[in-house]
Amino acid sequence: MSFDSSPETKRLYERFQLIINGPALFNAIVTGLDLDVFPYLCKNPKSTFEELREYTGIPSHKLRVLLQALCATELLEKEDGGYTNSSVAEELLADEGPESWRHILIGWQRIYYPAFTHMTSALRTGTNTGLASYPGSEPTLYQRLAKDPETEGILHASMGAFTQQSMPGLLENAEIGSLRHLLDVGGGDGTTAAALAKRHPEMRITVFDMPSVTRIAEQAVPSGSDGQVRLHPGDIFDDPYPRDVDGILFSHVLEVFDAEQILHLLGKAYEALPSGGKIFLYGFNVTEDETRGLLAARLSLYLNVLASGQGMAYPATDYEAWLKQVGFSTVESVTALPYEHGLTIGTKA
Ligand SMILES: C[S@@+](CC[C@H](N)C(=O)[O-])C[C@H]1O[C@@H](n2cnc3c(N)ncnc32)[C@H](O)[C@@H]1O
Repeated sequence: MSFDSSPETKRLYERFQLIINGPALFNAIVTGLDLDVFPYLCKNPKSTFEELREYTGIPSHKLRVLLQALCATELLEKEDGGYTNSSVAEELLADEGPESWRHILIGWQRIYYPAFTHMTSALRTGTNTGLASYPGSEPTLYQRLAKDPETEGILHASMGAFTQQSMPGLLENAEIGSLRHLLDVGGGDGTTAAALAKRHPEMRITVFDMPSVTRIAEQAVPSGSDGQVRLHPGDIFDDPYPRDVDGILFSHVLEVFDAEQILHLLGKAYEALPSGGKIFLYGFNVTEDETRGLLAARLSLYLNVLASGQGMAYPATDYEAWLKQVGFSTVESVTALPYEHGLTIGTKA
């Protein structure tokens, strides 16, 4: 790049460097998590190199390399020979609580990113060739992981932790708060149901997911909740939807599928709802012009390369059109929620 480049070219160049070096630095962050560097520095700010070496047990030269990488990310700061978490590391990586990105990043490293080496072949052939690393003949990652509980646990811990971060846009919605009984289709590990149950103690919630996943959800369902949250194992395409619900939620589910499958799922939901019943579609929305959205881009690529071989972070207008197509009368969207999320709500006349 020449010295007299415009500020915009310099910005783009810096962004280019950040992105192309990102995979190495991303893995350095996860190694920092594996070694508990961030929680240690939270309790022991300004730790010396020697203290970190003793704590991590990593040979000096290797630790020197790792700490330089973590300082380059600006997640660690080094001053007068002492290492301290930056404010972002302190907030997002230092503890195990719901604000922690630990499980999200571990899932991206162990499951999402290894698959991306298959990207060209997956896009060229139109199938999720990244799935070849997982034994079986089932067409989706979710189905194949039913036979691999350890990896399935990592995937759901990652998705559940991200869902926890991105949930406020859903939790605080007044229309969902007024429901009597919500069916959470593809409800995963129960993170959403547990949070909704806590926020709205009068609401009943039924989590509908594959049997191997509702078994994981058993841990998230609050004990002593008097059956406020119930689990309904089954196949969301093939099995009937429970009746006696006045709301149906698809949270981070429709992104996974193509238009034909989405119309099938929405049609089933329409049938299961009474007159006046509401449907809630919550998840990633790419911008209308499809030019922005780092989270949306990563998710769409992951879905096509590995998870299902189709789907994307559709724009809200796609969801609105599909809801109208299956019969919902009133349809409205709240877009530009945090984490590139949106909520589209339909009402059955
Ligand atoms: C991306 S996850 C979303 C999980 C959760 N709703 C959330 O917001 O975190 C998609 C969910 O759909 C479920 N799923 C996919 N295909 C399914 C099927 N055929 N039957 C039942 N559940 C299915 C998966 O097991 C997974 O839990």
